[in-house]
Amino acid sequence: MSNPGGGAPQKTPSITLNSGAKIPQLGLGVWQATNDETERAVGFALGEAGYRHIDTAAAYGNEEGVGRGLAASGVPREDVFLTTKLWNADQGYESAFSAFDASLDKLAVDYVDLYLIHWPLQDRDRLLRTWEALEEIAASGRARSIGVCNFEPHHLRLLADRGGTMPAVDQVELHPHLAQHEIRSTAAELGVAVESWSPLGGTSNAGWGEHSKPNTLLTDPCIGAIASRHGKSPAQVLIRWHLQNGLIVIPKSAHPERIAQNIDVFDFDLTDIDLAEIGTLNDGVRVGLHPDEMNLAAPD
Ligand code: A2P
Repeated sequence: MSNPGGGAPQKTPSITLNSGAKIPQLGLGVWQATNDETERAVGFALGEAGYRHIDTAAAYGNEEGVGRGLAASGVPREDVFLTTKLWNADQGYESAFSAFDASLDKLAVDYVDLYLIHWPLQDRDRLLRTWEALEEIAASGRARSIGVCNFEPHHLRLLADRGGTMPAVDQVELHPHLAQHEIRSTAAELGVAVESWSPLGGTSNAGWGEHSKPNTLLTDPCIGAIASRHGKSPAQVLIRWHLQNGLIVIPKSAHPERIAQNIDVFDFDLTDIDLAEIGTLNDGVRVGLHPDEMNLAAPD
């Protein structure tokens, strides 16, 4: 992989999506980073740490920061896999096009690699009209792939039963406490790749308001013991768990040393014993909200 922005090239493997596009399996997440933090994090991740995949969203309020960081990195646009997401307030056919245009403007790019519906609406008709708009955006070439977030198996089946384009990815909360086996098996059956959000167990910030919970995975004794055995950090062990499970993983950090650490994960493998031990942590405890219980920011 070329690395014209400087720094050591990283051997991040790619996954081929059902659109035919290749997505680097590890990217940088930027939820709850300000525009200035995001600009610095993205500039460092691309220009120095060797990342080639950035995941943002209109609702994060930092697409401008991503655009500035991308420009400052010196890495050519075509070498970067860029994802953004349509917020629920903009769901609907016409509104999806306007929201997409606004995202491109803020990112200062003329296409994104992946455009995602951020959250499933309980209004199925409106959700399907939104998907129709995304199909047209994909056909125009301005989003190379389209997909969804937080879709439960029944949402994926709704799109499968409708016919037309299937999402390239379903980005869901996924980490050792919430292994999401049902979503993963449905997605595999339908040819949808799965991306993990809050892959390290979440930010512990106030992103979920009164529902916000502390991160317990980074201090979990089981993860810590495995990290010691490998001479790696708990975050690196968690990232390898996602990679070795075939998931796309987008750990968030606003700190250069952690951004660099989180991509320095291609010189060790978790053993079957490590994976089995981590498997015992799957108790279904979420850090975010359940998509079927929260009709987040539904439009009027
Ligand atoms: P920070 O941005 O201050 O570095 P997620 O599970 O959503 O990816 O959340 C990651 C959380 O863990 C963020 O709050 C981030 O904080 C922190 N973090 C990211 N990388 C590391 C790391 N290598 N070691 C410890 N904490 C990390």
